[in-house]
This record gives sequence, structure tokens and C-alpha cells, in this order.
Amino acid sequence: MSRVLVVCYSYTGTARRVAQLLCSHHGWSLGEVRDAGPRGTLRCVLDSLLRRHPAIRYEGAEPRAFDIVVLVAPIWMYRLAGPMRSFVAARRDQLPRVAVLATMSAGGATNAYAEVAQLLGHAPVACAAFLQREIEDGSATTRLLDLGDELDGAAVKPVAQPVRTAPA
Ligand SMILES: Cc1cc2nc3c(=O)[nH]c(=O)nc-3n(C[C@H](O)[C@H](O)[C@H](O)COP(=O)(O)O)c2cc1C
Repeated sequence: MSRVLVVCYSYTGTARRVAQLLCSHHGWSLGEVRDAGPRGTLRCVLDSLLRRHPAIRYEGAEPRAFDIVVLVAPIWMYRLAGPMRSFVAARRDQLPRVAVLATMSAGGATNAYAEVAQLLGHAPVACAAFLQREIEDGSATTRLLDLGDELDGAAVKPVAQPVRTAPA
């Protein structure tokens, strides 16, 4: 079994595209966090502003079976999208080393990295942000797959230092 699991939450498809690209290129497993109820833009905004933990379903392999879990999620209101907050909080004891990849239109990823670190009680092994525009036009593909290569290497040996932190 591959030793890297990618878990994405996506509202409009961008984070899912990032996750699928990583998984198809590296042969990794893909899990997906889904909303348990209906969602609209206002609910996205309120979940972020109120730091809510909305109800979710998780469809994928058990994270504890992997060496690294790569979380891919959008930024909402300069914060981690609420459904990924729910996933990390609910599964924090089952998550091994974690990498955080944010998709966004402009900024806010550093807040999401900090929130995941706070929920886990330790820093992610890698953090990176990708603009929606550069995912759509393909200009981020090389950077994304290079990061995947680094994580692939890190999955088979202990990570003493963060692989990469890309502030946004
Ligand atoms: C409610 C809402 C709030 C958002 N807030 C931000 C933000 O604070 N900063 C930002 O750069 N992008 C923000 N965005 C844009 C999304 O992060 C961006 O489009 C992302 O790539 C969407 O990922 P997805 O297609 O996987 O849902 C927001 C989008 C929504 C719907």
C-alpha cells in the first residue's frame, strides 16, 4: 500500500483537482471529506467567522495506516475551510505526519497552517498554498508535483524538519 494518503475537501472543485493530480501522479490513495448537509456561500462564511465544526462524512482509507496524510482544502475568509477543520479535530489522534496544502484566490493560507498545527498539537511537516488561477492554468503543476516528490521521499524516512513551508 502507498504510504501517503491525500484527504481533500473541495466546495467548487479546485482542491479536489489538486488532490487528484497528486494521487494520479504518485499513485497515492485519495480520501474525501464531504458535507453531511446542504451548503451555500453564506454557510461557508459563517463556518469560518464562527470557527464552526460543521457535520461531515469522510470517504476514504483510515489515516492511521499511512506515514503522511496530505490535507488539501480551500481558504474561506482567511481561515481553513470549516469541513477540513471538522476532519482534523475529529481525527487528530489518528493522523500521522501531516502536510497542509491550501487553495485560495489571494491569501489566508498561513492562518490555516497555524490552525492545523494548533488542532494537532504539532507543526505540519510541509505547508504550501496554490492560487486557484495557477491551478486552472496549469502554472502550479510543476511546483505541486515537486512538493509531492519531496513528500514521497519523506514518507519512507523520518522527517526531522519541515519539508517546505510556503507562506502566502
Ligand atoms: C466563502 C468563501 C470565502 C473565501 N475566502 C477566501 C479568502 O479569504 N482568501 C482567498 O484567497 N480565497 C478565498 N476564497 C476563494 C477560495 O479559497 C478559492 O476559490 C479556492 O480555490 C476554492 O477551492 P475549492 O474550489 O476546492 O472549493 C473564498 C471562497 C469562498 C466560497
